[in-house]
This record gives sequence, structure tokens and C-alpha cells, in this order.
Amino acid sequence: MTRAGVVGWPISHSRSPLIHGYWLERYGIDGVYDRHAVAPADVAQFFRTLRERGMAGCNVTLPHKEAAFTAAVETKPAAKAAGSANTLWFEDGRLIADNTDAAGFLNSLLAAVPGLDLAGKTVAILGAGGAARGIIFALLGAGVGTVHLFNRTRARADAVAAYFGAKVQAHDWDNREAGSRGADLLVNTTSLGLHGGAPLGFDVASLKAACIVADIVYVPLETPLLATARALGLRAVDGLGMLLHQAVPGFEKWFGVRPEVTEELRALVIRNIEGA
Ligand code: ATR
Repeated sequence: MTRAGVVGWPISHSRSPLIHGYWLERYGIDGVYDRHAVAPADVAQFFRTLRERGMAGCNVTLPHKEAAFTAAVETKPAAKAAGSANTLWFEDGRLIADNTDAAGFLNSLLAAVPGLDLAGKTVAILGAGGAARGIIFALLGAGVGTVHLFNRTRARADAVAAYFGAKVQAHDWDNREAGSRGADLLVNTTSLGLHGGAPLGFDVASLKAACIVADIVYVPLETPLLATARALGLRAVDGLGMLLHQAVPGFEKWFGVRPEVTEELRALVIRNIEGA
């Protein structure tokens, strides 16, 4: 039997067991995917002993994504770009780390907007944390032309722009509306809009009519940003797609089947979010 799971602190909120459990059942795989609550002081040792624990690998969530990156022998380019990892597995006994949020975001976007061609497009990104870095990595890989990056702490945006080069331009947070006017895609990578938290404060009326608006927040599923975008007739892409699609590569590495993100799975997770 193959074992995998998700590691975090706390971990009870994680929806990964629901997602992977659905796939294990759907594909009739003799496997286990469970939760591991590991305190920060113990996490390096946990990763060192993954194999002794009988695990084929794991997902990693807050606050351990940087520790997972450091623990690996080899890190994939998306993980390097983000400086963090959310998926670990073994190849020839060596621990490998990737950040599948990047591809998860892109695949979610492409699933939501079939036929979307990002080549040469202008993108506005709100936030400059690890999530933003992963998403920028994925978008540049898809051939976008220019990325305008807006962050409350300007120095952090400057550092991200310096990492990626001339296609990524850093701007002050206060310029986020004016500076997004020409964008074909706007992505909120901050936690603003999260249930119970501070609002984002972004007037979508300043965007082009053809602009796609994406949010990585998925509780609530319809954030105020997405709701106002939809009300104005803009295409809105929620954060749940990214959560589902980021889970695909790990499942494939550990259990040997590339799983499908189905409407049934999406509905299952939505019921869980709404019941929470
Ligand atoms: P992650 O790795 O998930 O992206 P993070 O590194 O904590 O998380 O980044 C969170 C992002 O949300 C940052 O861009 C942060 O801005 P700062 O770099 O200035 O901290 C942004 N953010 C969080 N709270 C914010 C707020 N109240 N206003 C504006 N931006 C905020």
C-alpha cells in the first residue's frame, strides 16, 4: 500500500485529504493520504524520516513550505522561483521538491477559459509573496509579455522583479488600479478578500472589458473581487481551481495515475467549504 499525506501546523483545515481521498477511491488505488500535524521545531526531522515512515512523499502547507524546499536534495524550477515547495516525492531514493501551485494556477486558468492564449499578454499581479512568485513563473513560461506587480511593501515587489528580469515591473500598491488598466489578466495573490479578513479594495471598473480576473482566495469561493468582476461582465476565475489542479502532480508521482479534476470533485470540495 502506498502512503502519502499533507504536513502542516495546524493541519485540520486542509482539504487535501478530501481531494486525494476522492481520487484514491475513483481510481481504485490501494493507498492512504492522511494529515500530519508537525510543529516547526520537528519538521526538518519529519522530512528526513519520510521514507522510514513509509511515505512515498507528501504535500506541504503552511508554515512548512520553505522547510520543504530546504529539505529536498533537488528542487524543480517552479520551487526555486517561489523559494518554497508544496510537493515532495522520491526519485531513486532522493527527495525531490516542486511547487505545483504554479502549474496548478495555469491549468486552472486554462480549464476555466478554454483556448486562452497568453502569448504576449499583459498581466497585473497583486501581491509579491511566494504565491505571486509561483504564478509569475508559470505565466512567463506560458509566454506572457509584461507583468505589472503591485505590492504594499514595494521592496518585496522590487526583489521579485529583479529575480525574473525585465518582463516583470514593480509598482507601488497605490497604483494598482491605474496601473492595471491595460491588463488582459488580473490576479489577486494576496490574502485580502479572505473570509473574515480585510477587503482588497480594488475597483474592477477600471479594467478592460476583456480582462480576466482571477483570485487565489477560495473561501469564500466568490470573493468580492470576483463578484464585482462578474457583475460587470468580466470573466472571473476562482481560487478553487488552483487548489484542485495543484494536487494533480503529487498524486501522479505517489500513486502512478494522473488524476482528473472533475466537476464532481469540485462540487465535493464546495460542499465542504460551505459546510465549514
Ligand atoms: P504567500 O506566500 O501565500 O503569497 P505571503 O508571503 O505572506 O504569502 O504574502 C502575502 C501577500 O499579501 C504579500 O504580498 C502581502 O504584502 P506585503 O509584502 O506588503 O506584506 C500581501 N498583503 C497581506 N496583507 C495585506 C494588506 N492588508 N494590504 C496589502 N497587501 C497585503
